[in-house]
Amino acid sequence: MEQVKSGQLDLARKIERKGISEIPAETRPVYHLSSPVGWMNDPNGFSVYQEEYHLFFQYHPFSKAWGPMHWGHSKSRDFIRWEYLPIAMAPDKRYDKGGCYSGSAIEAEGEHVLMYTGVMDQYLEDGTHDYCQVQCMAKGDGLNYTKYDGNPVIAGDGLPEGGSTENFRDPKIWKEGEYYYLVVGNCNADGDGQVLLYRSGNLEQWEFLTVLDQSRSKYGKMWECPDFFPLGNRQILMVSPQDMRAAGYEFHNGNNSVFIYGHYDKLTYQFEREKVTSVDYGLDFYAPQTLQTADGRRIMVGWMQSWDAKLANDFCNWTGMMTLPRELVLKEGKIYQSPVRELEFYRKNKIEYIGKRISETTVLEGIRGRVIDLQVDITEFGFHHFAIHFAHNEEYEMLLQYNHLRKCLTIDRTHSGLVRDVVCRRKMTAEPFVLETQEKVLGLRLFLDRYSVEVFLNGGEKVMSAIFHTPMEADGIVFDTDGTVCMNVVKYDICI
Ligand code: FRU
Repeated sequence: MEQVKSGQLDLARKIERKGISEIPAETRPVYHLSSPVGWMNDPNGFSVYQEEYHLFFQYHPFSKAWGPMHWGHSKSRDFIRWEYLPIAMAPDKRYDKGGCYSGSAIEAEGEHVLMYTGVMDQYLEDGTHDYCQVQCMAKGDGLNYTKYDGNPVIAGDGLPEGGSTENFRDPKIWKEGEYYYLVVGNCNADGDGQVLLYRSGNLEQWEFLTVLDQSRSKYGKMWECPDFFPLGNRQILMVSPQDMRAAGYEFHNGNNSVFIYGHYDKLTYQFEREKVTSVDYGLDFYAPQTLQTADGRRIMVGWMQSWDAKLANDFCNWTGMMTLPRELVLKEGKIYQSPVRELEFYRKNKIEYIGKRISETTVLEGIRGRVIDLQVDITEFGFHHFAIHFAHNEEYEMLLQYNHLRKCLTIDRTHSGLVRDVVCRRKMTAEPFVLETQEKVLGLRLFLDRYSVEVFLNGGEKVMSAIFHTPMEADGIVFDTDGTVCMNVVKYDICI
């Protein structure tokens, strides 16, 4: 296959090396993966290869804005400390010169196999725009990757009737028995999002099996970045639909990521939808992807950003970061998310207040910081409003507010120094849970990492993620209520 832009990968790798060396480590998150230089979006190729975790990502190292997509690359042994590796793929072939879009990876016969979407994008001599998305493969050794000569491996002729050739992307691969399977996002003739299932015995020839599920005009338009995996006694189809409408606090306008709970019959390939919920209720979360670890844990990571807000810092040359990798567990019919347990090795300097009763604005000695794990369990509810102001000083703050009457939790970044008119507030319902002793508890666990917060409610029943670029001096934490609150507070610094 001819090389369209020769040297594109070498150039991108050079730009990347230079960029990384110029960015001071203090301007980055400490325990979240951030873009090496320039722009990052979706996690890609989240996989185990030779006993290490690899995480690729949509990447434009040439600027802080989205541009022709490369695959950036990093790896880790514990999901917390990430090592940047050289860029894995650049858009340098006839079938991907419009971008190497999202995809996934798998270890197969000792090789690291990447499945991704190639964007074919060119203007023909007669002025027509020739645009389509095709599925491609590359193989490598964990460092360098070669695109398969027979690419694309799935093109328009592999689509079901009415399937869009322009919106056909983000393959997620897995193996079961003798076969490889993959799910891909697509649109049908009505513009409804759908997920297609394919099967292959050799990674090169793929057979279309079925449409697993469709938006049915309810869950947005194009369905991006599908993933499909068993969890407990359910099968989960996770997708990121574009153009959704808000439904109470469950979904918000625009791009969402959702868990579709259901049952799957492996013999007939029928997926039966049971219910649909948001993956994350915060301001910045999209395009999550999962892997399974050797010890059987299902780990999910998402892009901590929103396409419409696209918040970028104005102090250095990177933009975009991932969420904490989160373990998914099905409990009482609900997916719980918790930060990978490996993070606990990095917790230091424990400070604890048990049964702390407050009835006014309160600062607790030692409870502050921007790189912390903060657990606040409320055990008595003599109030209507309770708030945690964090990343706080006289000028700035982030706010988490709990309205006990409405059982509603709000995240608010209005005063985090933004100068653009972007969405700053999001709400979700939050009910205290009941212990065996009949005591009620509302559990809030906040992970702060300089420019982000992830709030885990009640051991991960729901999560809210958000980014903000408040100056680091704003590191105070203030508790506030209109009544009386009794709470247990535990704080650790996270030291890498
Ligand atoms: C999701 C997405 C994918 C696409 C990629 C392009 O955020 O739109 O569907 O592959 O980003 O960068």
